[in-house]
Amino acid sequence: MQHSETPSQRAAHLRADLIEHSHKYYVLDAPTLSDAEYDRLYRELIDLEATHPGLVSPDSPTQRVGAPPAEGFPQVEHEQRMMSLDNAFDSDELRAFLDRASKGLDGEDVEYVCELKLDGVAVAVKYLDGVLVQGATRGDGSVGEDVTTNIRTVRSLPLSVQGVDGQSLDLRAEVVLPKDVFARVNAERESKDTAIFANPRNAAAGSLRQMDPKMASERYLDIWVHGLADPAPLGTLTHDQTLTRLEGMGFKVSPQRQRVGTAEEVIAYCSKWTDARDSLEYEIDGVVVKVNAYRQQRMLGHTTRAPRWAIAFKFPAERVVTRLIGIDVHVGRTGAITPQAIMEPVSVAGSTVAAATLHNEDFIRTKNVMIGDYVVIQKAGDIIPEVIEPVISRRDGSEKAFEMPVVCPSCGTAIVRTEGEVVARCPNSSKCPGQRFEGILHFASRNAMDIDGMGPVVIEELLEAGLISDASDIFRLSEKDLMSIERFQEKSTSNLLRAIEASKNRSFDRVLFALGIRHVGSHVAELLATEMKSSDSLMDAETETLAGIEGIGPRIAESVFEYFKDEDARALVARLQTAGVCVEIGPSTLDSESSVTAVTGKTVVITGKIDGMSRDDVKALIKGGGGKVTSSVSSKTDLVVVGEDAGSKRDKALKLGIATIDVSELLSLLEKG
Ligand code: IVH
Repeated sequence: MQHSETPSQRAAHLRADLIEHSHKYYVLDAPTLSDAEYDRLYRELIDLEATHPGLVSPDSPTQRVGAPPAEGFPQVEHEQRMMSLDNAFDSDELRAFLDRASKGLDGEDVEYVCELKLDGVAVAVKYLDGVLVQGATRGDGSVGEDVTTNIRTVRSLPLSVQGVDGQSLDLRAEVVLPKDVFARVNAERESKDTAIFANPRNAAAGSLRQMDPKMASERYLDIWVHGLADPAPLGTLTHDQTLTRLEGMGFKVSPQRQRVGTAEEVIAYCSKWTDARDSLEYEIDGVVVKVNAYRQQRMLGHTTRAPRWAIAFKFPAERVVTRLIGIDVHVGRTGAITPQAIMEPVSVAGSTVAAATLHNEDFIRTKNVMIGDYVVIQKAGDIIPEVIEPVISRRDGSEKAFEMPVVCPSCGTAIVRTEGEVVARCPNSSKCPGQRFEGILHFASRNAMDIDGMGPVVIEELLEAGLISDASDIFRLSEKDLMSIERFQEKSTSNLLRAIEASKNRSFDRVLFALGIRHVGSHVAELLATEMKSSDSLMDAETETLAGIEGIGPRIAESVFEYFKDEDARALVARLQTAGVCVEIGPSTLDSESSVTAVTGKTVVITGKIDGMSRDDVKALIKGGGGKVTSSVSSKTDLVVVGEDAGSKRDKALKLGIATIDVSELLSLLEKG
């Protein structure tokens, strides 16, 4: 400590220095102090505050990581609704938006601000008297979750700001995870055999909802501020002025923003960033175009869902070319034999892709794909990568046609392809090791029993050690069993045992889904569980009874009947029941973790073509989240999920002021819970 200063002065001095340097480091990306020097100052402040607890202030850099909330994240009502944005998918739709805006402003000149659309988690951050008091997720737009403890750990967000005494600032911002941190987090998760995050947005959402702020803090989240719910406290007249002011106050504001005056400039900005998105440290999924002047924004107003003065230009699905170096065949849990494209690793839409399903033999023939081809692959956001077509012009004659093997790659049993079916199968359902592995993997997976820590590596080792041979064996694993495997230490053992124990409370429909019966996805499992109520009555049901359930067709009924006809399957269910797994519906089986989501109790309509997902999958997602899916839009509809080429239903929803969202927004709503 410097002797000329009192402890209180020294603390204030250190705090100011640390805040300045962390702004330079995290916001401006231009540090002027070495990490070691920063750490030295930081430790001095910690020591000082420890000896003089009265000196600790809530905005001290030492106070970022607080205590975990006692009972989950409380709900918070947003003072001003957190709006969404309408989308434009091409330059015609952008022009249509610009024309509408111009008409709405009686032909006045309009200036726009183009900004990057960060692909993260929307948050509202509130400052009172310049002090950060609350961070909340968007939730359904009106009510979100209070994630203040975790928001405080985001180093690029100032805990206090100057020049707004007596004012309340309600920031709108996006929490993101930089691509390199995302890669590191996933590598770590993979080594622990926990499910990896599909993309940085999911990882950011997961981190923000981490119960332990210390863990959230270790994720190195970042935050970009893109506006204010109400700019009045700053007295600014345009959006751009607001952003500049916020930047001056120490917030991270996108330096790529640009003021433009014509449709051509808007379109040029969008196409520039369509090409340049990979150069950024963060994922972006489009461009946001906003009318700059608040006076004009007010003239245009908004619908219940989105402002009429802004639009989100969404990037098209990313396509890249890579080489198909081989085709592996793989046996799935139902015995389906699937050819898999093995490709030279290539980066597309935020992740490295080295494999993609080729579905079946016919798919390969129709697409005319050969081993050695250069192929176009596409990935849209979260969606699984797909092979679009070969680049015929790049063939040199060395390419080889794919031959479907005649025996199962796992057990060597002759493959069967029933006439009229596209899928070839390994008929050795009870003994094939490949099917067994996939079956257990599915059983433990997130939408099924959700056993954290029971991923492919662990399952493989347990099978190899002879500790499990089917799903029910999981519940017989002891501490001693797990400790006998090299990768397990005391902590990982007790974590896994706890996860296994917790999974016994999964609801009956999830257990049914986990069994992996052919044609029984989450949605069908739910119908079966609701209707049949227990595994006993389900196992004894005739095909006709099953087919009589609304939503269950003859194909599903037959598959369920066939499954339970098998003595092994019945014995498996009996063993699960003995182990304490829930095999009937009842209040005790309510799955508290996933019972309430943003669509719970809501009536939802799906319209248009959903890219990369079947309509049933989307339905199942909504139903899984507790929502009801109906086919026509009426005043009773709460939400419309809009795909490509959506027509009258979308228009009707807009007319009735019903919220419309796209499927990626649906996914993030469901994730947010
Ligand atoms: S403005 C009232 N600007 O995109 C308008 N949003 O689909 C509020 N987003 O929930 C949004 N980057 O979380 C705006 N530069 C940006 C953005 C941005 C990402 C997110 C935001 C919003 C979603 C709308």
